[in-house]
Amino acid sequence: MSETTTEIAEDATAFDQLNILLESIEQHPEEAVRNHVRALVYTLLDLHHSALKRIVEIVSVQPTGEKILQELSEDEVVQAVLMVHELMAQPLETRIENALEIARGHLKIYGADVELVEVKNSVARLRILGGSSTVNVSTTILKAEIEHALHEHTPDLLNVEYEDTIAPVRPQKLVQILPRQPVQDNSLPKEFFMPIIRADQVPENGLRVVETIGINLLLCNVAGTIYAFQNACAEENSPLDESILEDGVLTCPCHRLKYDVRQKGRSLNNSDLRLEALPSKVENDVVKVALPKKD
Ligand code: FES
Repeated sequence: MSETTTEIAEDATAFDQLNILLESIEQHPEEAVRNHVRALVYTLLDLHHSALKRIVEIVSVQPTGEKILQELSEDEVVQAVLMVHELMAQPLETRIENALEIARGHLKIYGADVELVEVKNSVARLRILGGSSTVNVSTTILKAEIEHALHEHTPDLLNVEYEDTIAPVRPQKLVQILPRQPVQDNSLPKEFFMPIIRADQVPENGLRVVETIGINLLLCNVAGTIYAFQNACAEENSPLDESILEDGVLTCPCHRLKYDVRQKGRSLNNSDLRLEALPSKVENDVVKVALPKKD
């Protein structure tokens, strides 16, 4: 490994430091070294996750367990670590807001937005907002985007209801009225995004398969936007290495099932099938993916 030292600001949080160090290793010229370090980091994270999970389980069944966990969750550092490992449940409303924030990124494509009106008895009431460019978009598509995000982040949500009509999108300068956003600690990442590969290593309108920490990833570059999926066809779990990507549609070579990459891998042939989409982003020209946690 080269002798260069990564500079980290003195006031960087531990999570920032971790991300900066992971990014720096992505610049290493040897793929074997990059893979080795990724494996090391994920093995350590898995080890800590298992240990912390056991600690929480053991403490929670003690007579004063709830009180101890409450006190621990009030400690800033402990809280941050428990949240990273998804061992501290956030209130349902907070998780709904987080899921809607993810959905908004997809609704923007249709010129639409969504607001949370209220949460009552584990049922979310939503209002879809739309503009002139939303007129030709089926509300079914908008609802599918919203519910996909909610399904992933709030499995305990019992139902979703919508206001009857699509309200006009509010001008961006206006502050959203409902609901009040809970105070968030910006030092905490919502998800841990693992650096995977340099963005320029995924060819435009092409595919790249990457094996990392035992997870087989399929990265699709559609007109410069990179989408990540588990590398498995939804029909028979066959790898999609030999698939064809054309105009954002991925065709599996086995039985020619087609998937819409930009629509979270929905099958165009069978509405019950979809690829396993993974949250991804590109930062500093590095593709990062929130990998599924291994139990
Ligand atoms: S395994 Fe992909 S279409 Fe059958």
